[in-house]
Amino acid sequence: MSIWDRLAEHQRAYAERPILELFADAGRANAFTVAAGEMRLDYSKTSIDADARDLLVALAEGAGLADARAAMFAGAKINETEGRAVLHVAQRAGEDAVIEVDGADVMPELRAERARAFAFAEDLRAGRITGQGGAITDVVNIGIGGSDLGPAMVTLALAPWHDGPRVHYVSNVDGAHMADVLKGLDPERTLVIVASKTFTTIETMTNARTARDWMAVKVRDPGAQFAAVSTARDKTAEFGIAPERVFGFADWVGGRYSVWGPIGLGVMIAIGAEAFAQFLDGARAMDTHFIDAPLAQNMPVMLALVGIWHNQICGHATRAVLPYDQRLARLPAYLQQLEMESNGKRVGMDGRDLERQSGPVVWGEPGTNGQHAFYQLIHQGTRVVPCEFLLAARGHEPDLAHHHRLLAANCLAQSEALLRGRTLEEARALMAAKGLSGPELDRQARHRVFPGNRPSTTLIYPQLTPFTLGQIVALYEHRVFVEGVILGINSFDQWGVELGKELATALGPVLEGADASAKDGSTRALVEYIRARA
Ligand code: F6P
Repeated sequence: MSIWDRLAEHQRAYAERPILELFADAGRANAFTVAAGEMRLDYSKTSIDADARDLLVALAEGAGLADARAAMFAGAKINETEGRAVLHVAQRAGEDAVIEVDGADVMPELRAERARAFAFAEDLRAGRITGQGGAITDVVNIGIGGSDLGPAMVTLALAPWHDGPRVHYVSNVDGAHMADVLKGLDPERTLVIVASKTFTTIETMTNARTARDWMAVKVRDPGAQFAAVSTARDKTAEFGIAPERVFGFADWVGGRYSVWGPIGLGVMIAIGAEAFAQFLDGARAMDTHFIDAPLAQNMPVMLALVGIWHNQICGHATRAVLPYDQRLARLPAYLQQLEMESNGKRVGMDGRDLERQSGPVVWGEPGTNGQHAFYQLIHQGTRVVPCEFLLAARGHEPDLAHHHRLLAANCLAQSEALLRGRTLEEARALMAAKGLSGPELDRQARHRVFPGNRPSTTLIYPQLTPFTLGQIVALYEHRVFVEGVILGINSFDQWGVELGKELATALGPVLEGADASAKDGSTRALVEYIRARA
């Protein structure tokens, strides 16, 4: 019997056992918590028991995880459909690291480029690089997907470290995004970063041209207030950005894995090189843990295995990411790209259909806001949604420590409520205490029952710092990798985004009046509607 089958059998055998029962083992919380430095991942509030864990770990071993991990860190071309190495880890490797691709050490160039980006950021922060009207007060990063979500998420997360110019992010081709951000900015004191790995993405290039036009109204040499981050230096030159303002990276850094290098320029400008280096240190600490820790004590591995258990074994199709940290408000969106663009694939590395479900739908919002919105479904809906809570032991506002206590109490209360639930008897007692009786008591009580037994994990850390954030982001990157290896997926291509891009290119002229007769009836009608009203 395969390990997958044994896992499924084990799950079926214990499907009726309440998770709460597992806590009869007084050591459970400790035994089902993984540590990485001061960070803890508690997965004890799931139905995984010691046997299930052994099987899950065996699954990872059997999938060749150790070899795959070694291959990635060594620069092997594991992104087979694009013939590329996968070396986002090189971006935070130690100062003496040597990493070879095609026999050449890639680290000297990477370090030189990082040093240039750091120097540029520091010059800007210190007012040594200015705009036509003086020191730069605002930076607008134009990018989308991996060229936006990572730096935007990190910039927001590290607000307590902001001591440079204000950094804004424009991603959507919807003119509203650009218009709303530019409103109120002084073009003479604004710097625009065009961040695009390929420098061909239509949204980014359209926004970049609009920003250049906006600047050109007031600024004599708008190119002097532009910088670019890209792998395509020929295209950045064509756009008119001077080579000394272009920060490059190699094609073996995937867009959604690129925040650690020059794509993080906006973050470097916001928080400075020193704090950015701490962000890299945190990621490197997680890399080291990922390489060294035995699988059952390995945080990314166990996070991935908990995910496999819930999605592929228990059949829960979605996972909620619930940071009890307002500054991680963009983490769910960031993870949607990281996880769903990486592991949302129906064909395995071998070119065959997957035998199992691909990665789950990832969604979420910060707590406590979500509690007053969608938690209703999480607690009482018919579908089970595994929840992933994130919480810092302390906040950044010492004067508002009572806020943080309330935040933490809510986070712990939610995972406790999901675990325990409320029985019909308890609900009846509550209704009786309110003076209800007879059929009305029964009816009202049923609405107040919580099935409980709903799984969650809690990732807990001392405080959201650049270092901790580096750990968190690297943790999720490696989680995706482990899940991809176990499912046999190439986590580093994204062919599924292409068709829509091609069709959008063809539809542009159609909206302007070109022949729509080859389109399906629905698309034709929608085109007509727009043409009639645009
Ligand atoms: O369309 C998807 C995608 O290719 C993402 O993978 C990428 O992060 C994003 O577009 C932006 O790409 P680029 O950085 O090349 O503009």
